[in-house]
Amino acid sequence: GKVAVLMGGDSAERPVSLMSGDGVLKALLSKGVDAHAFDPSQRPLEDLKAEGFSRCFVALHGRHGEDGTVQGALELMGIPYTGSGVMASAVAMDKVMTKRVWVAEGLPTPQWRLLPLGQHGATVVRNVPDALGLPLIVKPAREGSSFGVTKVAGYSGMLEAVTHAAQYDPDVLCEEFIDGEEVTCPVLGDGDDAVALPVIRIQAPDGNYDFEHKYHSDDTRYLCPSGLPAEEELNIQRIVVAAYRLLGCRGWGRADLMIRASDRKPFLLEMNTSPGMTGHSLVPMSARAAGLSYEDLCLHLLAGARL
Ligand code: DAL
Ligand code: MG
Repeated sequence: GKVAVLMGGDSAERPVSLMSGDGVLKALLSKGVDAHAFDPSQRPLEDLKAEGFSRCFVALHGRHGEDGTVQGALELMGIPYTGSGVMASAVAMDKVMTKRVWVAEGLPTPQWRLLPLGQHGATVVRNVPDALGLPLIVKPAREGSSFGVTKVAGYSGMLEAVTHAAQYDPDVLCEEFIDGEEVTCPVLGDGDDAVALPVIRIQAPDGNYDFEHKYHSDDTRYLCPSGLPAEEELNIQRIVVAAYRLLGCRGWGRADLMIRASDRKPFLLEMNTSPGMTGHSLVPMSARAAGLSYEDLCLHLLAGARL
């Protein structure tokens, strides 16, 4: 039957999703799949049913795409889709909810404070650096691609950073800064069958892996195979698979982590349930290192589409 590649959408990550969707669409077409682009921000999702689409590849990022809302609508319409279901998508979209789940089960994630709307004022933001230390990271609770993220060096930067993050989400997350190296690790599969792909080490200039470095510039170095000692790589993969299972993820995902320089301890930052599939993206890079081409990765994910 016909496959809809859901792409675009109305989140801040719309341009990224259009790039991901474009790659996925081309890959599926090259494999003979009857695939079509479908942008839920341009037309009602109900058209999927009317036009006879039998499955969806979700290449949306961020709100209204990666957060369980679209997944819920597809459930109601009875159209199987790739990736996580409603609950895991909704929890993983929210970095604070995600941390609560991980911490409850003893998985390592940096210390944090949540600043809900109405608590963004000067007094509150002054207390946060005292609790978490400086520098610290300020970010929207539910956003992707580094939108709204600031590394704050001193008290004087707090208010501006919180105001900036709040433009993307009223819930602002302040997080302990882990001084070390950034790594990412994709996962494929469901539940007990979930397996980690190779870890990627990300070496951005000045350790600043921001939007520009994610999608536009070529001066970030990616190491995959990671070159980490085998024991360290296995430990990261073990933590990431546990983190994925705890959230109830399905199909695929990608966890982002920091390894603390002082003691090499890994800290989970977040789980992406609809990871980027752009030419710069990390899941395809890791899959390739494992012998799975971009095209075969797309076919594999599509084969796992379900309700
Ligand atoms: N949020 C972007 C798409 C990613 O995690 O790859
Ligand atoms: Mg993310």
